[in-house]
Amino acid sequence: MPDEKITAPSVTQAKGHRKLAVITAYDAGQAALAEAAGADILLVGDSLGMVVLGLPDTVSVTMDQMVHHCRAVARGASKALVVADMPFLSYQAEVQQAVRNAGRLLQEGRAQAVKIEGGREVAPQARAIAAAGIPVMGHLGLTPQHVAALGGYKVQATSAQAARRLVGDAHALADAGCFALVLECVPAPVAGLVTGSVPIPTIGIGAGPDCDGQVLVFHDLLGLYGGFKPRFVKQYADLGSQAREALGRFTQEVRAGTFPDREHSFDMNPGELDRLLSGLEEA
Ligand code: KIV
Repeated sequence: MPDEKITAPSVTQAKGHRKLAVITAYDAGQAALAEAAGADILLVGDSLGMVVLGLPDTVSVTMDQMVHHCRAVARGASKALVVADMPFLSYQAEVQQAVRNAGRLLQEGRAQAVKIEGGREVAPQARAIAAAGIPVMGHLGLTPQHVAALGGYKVQATSAQAARRLVGDAHALADAGCFALVLECVPAPVAGLVTGSVPIPTIGIGAGPDCDGQVLVFHDLLGLYGGFKPRFVKQYADLGSQAREALGRFTQEVRAGTFPDREHSFDMNPGELDRLLSGLEEA
């Protein structure tokens, strides 16, 4: 990550010069860790519904929840660009509502950009949000907010026709003013084609190596999420096992009475202790 603050324009300018590393974050501690690791962008993903809130999908995540987590991430970050997902139905129904909700994520959540899912059908929203001075990122391919319509979490744009439509959607979003584009779960050659044909950076997740950047979910990357693990997830650590082992030792030591020991307890001045105990006898 460069020394200066990452902005939406600097992300766009990175295309063709350097690869972008994006990590999701949902609180200040995760933001600080991901930023210290060199992440260019911290994505406050609505994946928080699953990995933080224990929901089955992203569909019932609310604006209030996004604002709350975004504020925490913004407090933990200084250089990385903080991008907030706009949750389901916060932008699809009306363009003006989309602008107001995007504004809320900046004003109240202290995000520096927002992300919306969908193709040409949300281009009017992307255009209006960008026109309001709010950097907006697109998201194509597997769009988890459409999971009911898609019939599950499946690889998208597998036919020539669907891939051609995806390229058209990517152009529509770039023309509408998106500064970058997530491509989720599409064949690598399709992601390569999109990457080569739009002027904005593509950030892949399950989209092969030819994207301009890559994103992974914090919990997936560190092995902290016990739920469904897509094939495209590379787990770089198994912190879940380490956490279970450490927490198990704590509960065992509490039950055995071996925690806390002297090292983790506070002594009292012996004179004061004598006075306390003799006082108790007199009382
Ligand atoms: O919600 C999320 O975390 C996302 C990324 C997986 C791209 O949208």
